[in-house]
Amino acid sequence: MAKNTFYITTPIYYPSDNLHIGHAYTTVAADAIARYKRMRGYDVHFLTGSDEHGQKIERTARSRGQEPKEYVDKIVAGFKVLWEKLEISYDDFIRTTEERHKRVVQAIFQKLYDQGDIYKSTYEGWYCTPCETFWTERQLVEGKYCPDCGRPVELVQEESYFFRLSKYADRLLQYIEENPDFIQPVSRRNEMINFIKQGLEDLCVSRTTFSWGIPVPFDPKHVIYVWVDALTNYISALGYGTENDEKFRRYWPCDVHLVGKDIVRFHTIIWPIILMACGIELPKKVMGHGWLLLEGGKMSKSKGNVVDPLVLIEKYGVDAIRYYLLRELPFGADGYYSEEALVRRINSDLANDLGNLVSRTVAMVEKYLGGEVKSPGATEEVDRELAETAVATVHRYVELMEKLELSNALGAVWQLVDRANKYIDATMPWVLAREGKEDRLATVLYNLLEAIRVITILLSPFMPRLPERVGEQIGLSVEELTNWSTVEKWGEIKPGTRVRKGPALFPRIEWKEEKEEEAKEKEKEEAEKKEKENSLVGIEEFARIDLRTAEVVAAEKVEGADKLLKLTVRLGDEERTIVAGIARHYRPEELVGKTIIVVANLKPARLRGIVSQGMLLAASAGEELALITVDRPIASGTKVK
Ligand code: MSP
Repeated sequence: MAKNTFYITTPIYYPSDNLHIGHAYTTVAADAIARYKRMRGYDVHFLTGSDEHGQKIERTARSRGQEPKEYVDKIVAGFKVLWEKLEISYDDFIRTTEERHKRVVQAIFQKLYDQGDIYKSTYEGWYCTPCETFWTERQLVEGKYCPDCGRPVELVQEESYFFRLSKYADRLLQYIEENPDFIQPVSRRNEMINFIKQGLEDLCVSRTTFSWGIPVPFDPKHVIYVWVDALTNYISALGYGTENDEKFRRYWPCDVHLVGKDIVRFHTIIWPIILMACGIELPKKVMGHGWLLLEGGKMSKSKGNVVDPLVLIEKYGVDAIRYYLLRELPFGADGYYSEEALVRRINSDLANDLGNLVSRTVAMVEKYLGGEVKSPGATEEVDRELAETAVATVHRYVELMEKLELSNALGAVWQLVDRANKYIDATMPWVLAREGKEDRLATVLYNLLEAIRVITILLSPFMPRLPERVGEQIGLSVEELTNWSTVEKWGEIKPGTRVRKGPALFPRIEWKEEKEEEAKEKEKEEAEKKEKENSLVGIEEFARIDLRTAEVVAAEKVEGADKLLKLTVRLGDEERTIVAGIARHYRPEELVGKTIIVVANLKPARLRGIVSQGMLLAASAGEELALITVDRPIASGTKVK
């Protein structure tokens, strides 16, 4: 019986020196879907490629002293290296500069012209002569300047060919309304319906201001402009309209055109109308995914904030990067990229949850069973629960994968990972070992290996290296760990299989900001220590306080203040008044004749109208108070130090 087919495409990429991690998202997502379908037995055709024509490319090439073809050849070679490093399993790579593509584009253009859907007219637009670029009125700066070079633009008319989009608007609308799954997610479908309802203008499909493109077959001073050229790749790659159209017949209509949200409009308006006009069936689905953004906006070369996927793959490994991309972007919505979030995902989901599950299980099989899987014994409730979770996870996963909800599908697999980790905590194999319950121990470890087997199969479209790496440890082959027909079966692993502990699947990554955090903590401790030290008084500081011996020559109560005494003290030749709060502890007459210690350089203060010129020293605690005096005679005014 012939296999079911599945045709999936990515957009064809504009040549650019560096594809960034955001670009990689579309292709990695398409690859995961393609691998999933292949694993399920579909005859998959996965197409990607490059969109190489246009004035910008021509100009960039010339500015580097290269022919456009020479320039794009190099860049496309770079794309292929990146896709290889990302383990992209495309079946075909189409370049718009290839003959097989050009022929089909020209044939379609000719057909549309012959049947009156393409007509010649005049294109009017704002033209910047030095930049050789047309701008729309809205793009102009202050309504009259080129947004690129800032020079004034002119209103220019150019002979162009136009495609009658307007003629097909109603048919397209009807198609979209009758096929609710055609545009995904539904928010973008609604956007497109509104857009079409506002009325479609005919599309300018040729240019005479540059030559790096596919010539209009019947009027070669024109080149075919952008979208008719680019979109046709999806069928030119299948040999549409040629003597060799076997692939077209097999794979068309396309199951999924996966595209970024910025180009949904071209894929759901221009493309279906081209197909309708040619009498070709429309694709089944256009899925517009969200964008990977950076805090503070878009990733762009001009902003100098592009993140190079090659660097990340080198640093963290391809499986981790693919996992992060596909987990981080929710279905159809935007997500934010940061290396910190990437490291967090690796550490928590991959190193901690998945990596530990495998390493703990394998270590226990080695330690308790001599590294050899044993036949499981009687099943208990907790075992049944684990096996049932595995089957339920497979069902949920399929449901989500079919809806292209990749991030949610990963979320579902992680519930099984969690369940398996909890199973270890619940069954406590180390206790079973201690108590000599060998049969039960063998059963528990067997079930854990089964869970790992199912998890690995489910993750294999996302992380293509995982089956091999897990397989080396749990003693199964890549075939066994990608074998869909066994994913719902429990009990596939043969007793006698040998496990072998290997290096950590996903080593924990020390994040530099974690280190920075530690450094900050240390700094804080140092600062606190310093502050404490600062509360100690240095000798110089102490020396600033002028302590002197003073002889009390008179003392009396201060009127109306029962705590205060007014003392007259002598410091050598000098006499001073000091007001002190000691009236409750000393009678005035007790004090006269004593030699006490005073702070001689204290700022004078007025107390009860009396200016106090210093402060005497006393020890006090609660109700107790004792004056500091000298223990043998010494001259008044002597420095205390
Ligand atoms: N050449 C056109 C497509 C023609 S298809 C007939 C084009 N090329 S592109 O190189 O600019 O973009 C290729 C893909 O990368 C698009 O799906 C686009 O949405 C996607 N992305 C570019 N930047 C992106 C992010 N920052 N995040 C996610 N996807 C992004 O458009």
